[in-house]
Amino acid sequence: MMELNDRYNRTFKTLRVSLLSTCNLGCVYCTMGDPTINVDKKPQTPASVFLQQIEQLHKQLNLDTIRFTGGEPLLYRELAEVIAGAKQIGIPNIKITTNAFLLDRVAPLLKEAGLQSVNVSLDAVEEEVFFKMTKRQQVHRVLKGIETALACGLEVKLNAVILKGMNDCQVLPLLRYAFDKDIAIRFLEVMAMGHLHQHAAEYLYSQNDILAAIDTEYEFFKLLRKPGATANYWQTLEGKTFGIVANESDPFCQDCNRLRLDAQGNIYGCLSSNHPVSISDVQEEQVLQSKLQQAMWQKQDLKFTGSDLSMLQIGG
Ligand code: GTP
Ligand code: 5AD
Repeated sequence: MMELNDRYNRTFKTLRVSLLSTCNLGCVYCTMGDPTINVDKKPQTPASVFLQQIEQLHKQLNLDTIRFTGGEPLLYRELAEVIAGAKQIGIPNIKITTNAFLLDRVAPLLKEAGLQSVNVSLDAVEEEVFFKMTKRQQVHRVLKGIETALACGLEVKLNAVILKGMNDCQVLPLLRYAFDKDIAIRFLEVMAMGHLHQHAAEYLYSQNDILAAIDTEYEFFKLLRKPGATANYWQTLEGKTFGIVANESDPFCQDCNRLRLDAQGNIYGCLSSNHPVSISDVQEEQVLQSKLQQAMWQKQDLKFTGSDLSMLQIGG
């Protein structure tokens, strides 16, 4: 087994696979509310193609986690097949990141296929603000999806991207909801991706801003950071925890262990990279190894700088 290390001794142990670039929401940070950006007319990449690439990569990297993203992974027709296939390949942890709008119906099926954990993007619990952020109504569908996922034994974690002037009023309502239901929650600083590459600062609601909002209602202290984690964590005096993914204020590139694969067969060693490396036609092991080396050297060492590529394509 090749152990691929860069000069900071970082490896790739988590593979994030963006299954498609289509989404059923129009979140401001992804599409700036333009719903036409959401619709990818290309046919979906078959599960067999993803599974072949996943198997090739797992053989080289001995992955411990795979996370399926999108676009919106629940719109991918063969999601249960691709989950079952990843399990069969022998990847120990299988997770998805979803907006959960369609989760209610499919959660039991995905659990049965081998899914363990679901990160749900939820930027508001109040209908009006949910609409402002996503351009869709019916936040209750997302909440129902979360409940069904929990009821069938899936681990659930919430991701709330907070944008200044858009949904910063939701920090406390989201926290109360998560504490009340005993669901793990992380707040995310906006990242400079896609159309926000040069404009993210206008929307930045920083880690300190988030902490100040929480401080109006709770007393809390900081917990030690776990290696490889994307978030910092705090605990309230009542014993409840919350996290913040602070790409801007507190970048965590030093111990990043992620590789990304998109639906066109491109790999990315770094979310900040504008330079995909194609593995779609690669058959020989040696060629794949050199492509992985190339991706490895895309990894940034200090600070997340963003990319013109959209999260819709790379999957976060
Ligand atoms: P777990 O820690 O396994 O729960 O998941 P995760 O935080 O890696 O995945 P998730 O899809 O929930 O992503 C949360 C946020 O972290 C998103 O905004 C991602 O874009 C961001 N993120 C994930 N991986 C990286 C990374 O390697 N670098 C940077 N800069 N951000 C990342
Ligand atoms: N900044 C921060 N987080 C983002 N996400 C998508 N786009 C952005 C952005 N520009 C989040 C999604 C999802 C996770 C993978 O990344 O809400 O929870």
